[in-house]
Amino acid sequence: MEPSFVYSLKLILFLIITTPWFLLSLHGYNNNVDESSTYSTYIVHMDKSQFPNIFTTHHDWFEATIQSSKPSIHISNSNEKPSKKQLLYSYNHAMYGFSATLSSKELNSLRNSYGFISAYPDRTATMDTTHTFEFLSLDPSFGLWNASNLGEGVIVGVIDSGVWPESESFKDDRMEKKLPLKWKGTCEEGEEFNASMCNLKLIGARYFNKGLVAAKPNVTIKMNSPRDYDGHGTHTSSTVAGNYVHGANFFGYAKGVARGIAPRARVAMYKVSWEEGRQASDILAGMDQAIGDGVDVISASMGLDKVPLYEDSIAIASFAAMEKGIVVSSSAGNEGPKLGTLHNGIPWVINVAASSIDRTFGSLVLGNGETIIGWTLFAADAIVQDLQLVYHDTLSACNSSHMLREVVAATSDGIIICKASDSISVFDQINLVTMTNVKGAVFVSDDPEIIEWGHLYSPSIVITFKDAKSVINYTQSNKNPKASINFQQTFIGIKPSPVAARYSSRGPSPSFPWILKPDIMAPGTRVLAAYIPHKTTATIGTNVFLSSHYNIQSGTSMACPHISAVAALLKAARPEWGVAAIKSAIMTTANFLDNTENLIRDNANPNEFASPLAIGAGEIDPNRALDPGLVYDATPQDYVNLLCGLNYSYDQILTITRSRSYDCSNPSLDLNYPSFIVFYSKESESVIHKFRRTVTNVGEGGATYRVKVREPMGSMVTVLPNILVFKDKNEKQSYEVHIIYMKKDNESNNNVSFGDIVWVEDGGKHTVRSPIVVAPNGIV
Ligand SMILES: *[C@@H]1O[C@H](CO)[C@@H](O)[C@H](O)[C@H]1NC(C)=O
Ligand SMILES: *[C@@H]1O[C@H](CO)[C@@H](O)[C@H](O)[C@H]1NC(C)=O
Ligand SMILES: *[C@@H]1O[C@H](CO)[C@@H](O)[C@H](O)[C@H]1NC(C)=O
Ligand SMILES: *[C@@H]1O[C@H](CO)[C@@H](O)[C@H](O)[C@H]1NC(C)=O
Ligand SMILES: *[C@@H]1O[C@H](CO)[C@@H](O)[C@H](O)[C@H]1NC(C)=O
Ligand SMILES: *[C@@H]1O[C@H](CO)[C@@H](O)[C@H](O)[C@H]1NC(C)=O
Ligand SMILES: *[C@@H]1O[C@H](CO)[C@@H](O)[C@H](O)[C@H]1NC(C)=O
Ligand SMILES: *[C@@H]1O[C@H](CO)[C@@H](O)[C@H](O)[C@H]1NC(C)=O
Repeated sequence: MEPSFVYSLKLILFLIITTPWFLLSLHGYNNNVDESSTYSTYIVHMDKSQFPNIFTTHHDWFEATIQSSKPSIHISNSNEKPSKKQLLYSYNHAMYGFSATLSSKELNSLRNSYGFISAYPDRTATMDTTHTFEFLSLDPSFGLWNASNLGEGVIVGVIDSGVWPESESFKDDRMEKKLPLKWKGTCEEGEEFNASMCNLKLIGARYFNKGLVAAKPNVTIKMNSPRDYDGHGTHTSSTVAGNYVHGANFFGYAKGVARGIAPRARVAMYKVSWEEGRQASDILAGMDQAIGDGVDVISASMGLDKVPLYEDSIAIASFAAMEKGIVVSSSAGNEGPKLGTLHNGIPWVINVAASSIDRTFGSLVLGNGETIIGWTLFAADAIVQDLQLVYHDTLSACNSSHMLREVVAATSDGIIICKASDSISVFDQINLVTMTNVKGAVFVSDDPEIIEWGHLYSPSIVITFKDAKSVINYTQSNKNPKASINFQQTFIGIKPSPVAARYSSRGPSPSFPWILKPDIMAPGTRVLAAYIPHKTTATIGTNVFLSSHYNIQSGTSMACPHISAVAALLKAARPEWGVAAIKSAIMTTANFLDNTENLIRDNANPNEFASPLAIGAGEIDPNRALDPGLVYDATPQDYVNLLCGLNYSYDQILTITRSRSYDCSNPSLDLNYPSFIVFYSKESESVIHKFRRTVTNVGEGGATYRVKVREPMGSMVTVLPNILVFKDKNEKQSYEVHIIYMKKDNESNNNVSFGDIVWVEDGGKHTVRSPIVVAPNGIV
């Protein structure tokens, strides 16, 4: 009884001290009005510097603040119904404040509370591995893997749907016995999950769903623990740091030794995404805990759409992370290829786009010996050998099951060729063929979505229109055309690659367009990584459902953990680098050419080169990132200058920075960033944009760099000075860039054009590249 008495005394004192008397009386007066108002969850930011000393913990203060905002608290009323528990989380690392379930009336009165900064409603988030290490040229005998000792000593916190701890990828063989001293996390028990499931690889696991339960009070959580019930978190976390697993494969495809990109790094899982939904307040709680637990890198393959930075949980939590030197990498989203669809376009976060890799599966062999490499992931070693190949202009529509059955009967189980067209998509053809039990099928389609996302449910293969020409010619010019389809085959070295994925969300960032986003691209399409064993990963026909311990998945969610892992490797190899330096090293060394030595292409429009709004600086090149020559650094105050330049209100800025010690005397939208974006308006004649940049020499000893510029079409770029001379390591030099977009009188131009600025070391190996985008302002 004693503690509760002390507590209420504190509360009363607090109310008297902090609440204006007229609010108190108003509360008393409106005692019953609140019954009908609806409750929602809000995330509330408080001012830490105003913490009243009468409370011993932050939690007590927040609890009291909530109580004081309740209209039903009126001091004399002792009959009041016990209120439901309203405080969901107290946050102290990622932000300072709490989330709570409140009525709009309570929220309004809360706004007048002592120490209140801002509040906004909780929202739902959207979610957005293994040959990829090889594709990225990672090798233990040289480069980044060698210098980082495969990521040893680094901890990556993965914000996701949980983890399947029994997966081979989370075995801890050959992991260093001693955990990093700074580690404060735990392995939280829960449904089908106990503390002994963590080990030297999976060193922590926690779960957060109070926000979800508040948003859906009647929800029954299916797996109330850190255990993954979705597969997403197991896939992403094993991509970051999975251990070596021999013979990993997906129904015979992509077979090999699976491993994460940082195979000796540790993983801590923060489960915030549930089959039943996902809420910003839970994401914030997960990131808050990860920061408090002492992770080095946070990987978040999810994002909040269409929110300003000061209401974006990931932006807010990652600001606190950045201040502590924790790198946050997050996914761009899967809403491409429309421009301006990207989320997580946050200046202090690494935003990751997705690319293809140089791998495909399956082949078609014609009776004349010609072999065509296509694409299939049909989940069995089906026997489709020397069957009659059937092609007919009208039959090739494959648009009716009646007709398909006739073909099957007439050819005694031949292989039918189906050509996608304006009148029927390859997806519809696949469904019809599946229902008709055709023995074998060849789908002719150039739809990138089938290769990126699609599934085949019958023994079949997809080929391009270009490859189809000789197949059709063979069929038509031969009396007895025959073919075989080979399944469970894996081909690498496919050209061109990487190619920007069509689905990858495009910049500019709606929440901060003045910095070019995404930052970087990484493999995201058809990545093999660990999975949960009870979920369907492949279907045969209409009623055979198969599962597997490894799954091939696509999305920017799969690309993000590649960058998180490279950041972890860089942390291990270059412990002296801060968050901005790591991002800069990753960006300025990225590969902007594909494996045909041409500019990277865009799957959304294969005839065109991909713009930096799709790929950022280009494809990650981890070994080069180890030794970038120069870096563009930034301090927390530099990011504050951006927020001030946005004309955010004082409280909006405080919501992100949590501290009054930052000042707004130098507002600027020009951050020292390794990329450039300029907007022009269709009306104005021409625009001149000036940027100032400072580079730090992180190479060994002195060096001279000369600039090389590739101007965006229709723009002029000048760089001053055009030579930078460094006498020593860690010396800084500055330069200015003027980008002039010249409008042509009679042209109604709506083009995005792009180019780059490259600093090339005299007689040295370093080239430091920054992409430039010039775009009409209407696309934001
Ligand atoms: C790094 O490379 C050296 C020389 O090739 C080799 O002896 C060493 O074992 C490598 N380190 C790792 C972690 O593989
Ligand atoms: C944890 O779960 C495992 C597997 O179910 C079981 O073998 C073990 O005894 C459990 N440990 C504890 C401490 O409950
Ligand atoms: C939750 O369940 C209660 C009682 O079963 C019901 O009255 C209420 O409408 C439900 N609420 C929602 C949001 O489904
Ligand atoms: C199927 O495609 C053929 C050839 O394009 C066309 O003539 C026919 O009308 C289509 N049938 C259906 C059911 O769409
Ligand atoms: C079509 O096939 C015939 C017979 O095999 C061959 O002679 C001819 O060159 C082929 N034409 C094309 C365009 O491939
Ligand atoms: C901020 O306000 C200033 C002064 O009113 C204005 O010139 C500037 O364009 C505003 N910036 C933004 C990003 O809205
Ligand atoms: C714009 O004007 C120039 C010169 O007057 C002319 O050569 C060009 O064809 C015009 N372009 C368009 C799109 O009308
Ligand atoms: C805009 O794009 C079109 C089509 O690609 C091209 O023909 C035109 O020259 C471009 N205009 C400018 C000013 O770059």
